Amino acid sequence: MIELRGRTKFAVVEPEPGLSILKHAIKYKVDWGHMCKKGTCAKCRCFVSEGNEYLDGITDEEWDRLEPEEFEQGYRLACQAVVKQGAQRIVAVNKPYF
Ligand code: FES
Repeated sequence: MIELRGRTKFAVVEPEPGLSILKHAIKYKVDWGHMCKKGTCAKCRCFVSEGNEYLDGITDEEWDRLEPEEFEQGYRLACQAVVKQGAQRIVAVNKPYF
């Protein structure tokens, strides 16, 4: 399952491999910040407290937009973080800079 915590809404949803965290949030009507959907605005930035291993690797767009320490801490861009096949528990909270 994926736990998604948006600005005011929370949902626990079935993981769909190939979909990004942001696409899950939109599909399940979680109020998750986003604008560009291509890795530049960082409105979709999120903290992944569990299940980072079930997400595809960090994209070039994320390396350009976030700092290396943020990845170490567990931050990703939800529009870039795609759920892998066989994903189990993922917990993500929308944490934009402002
Ligand atoms: S929606 Fe803009 S970086 Fe993800």
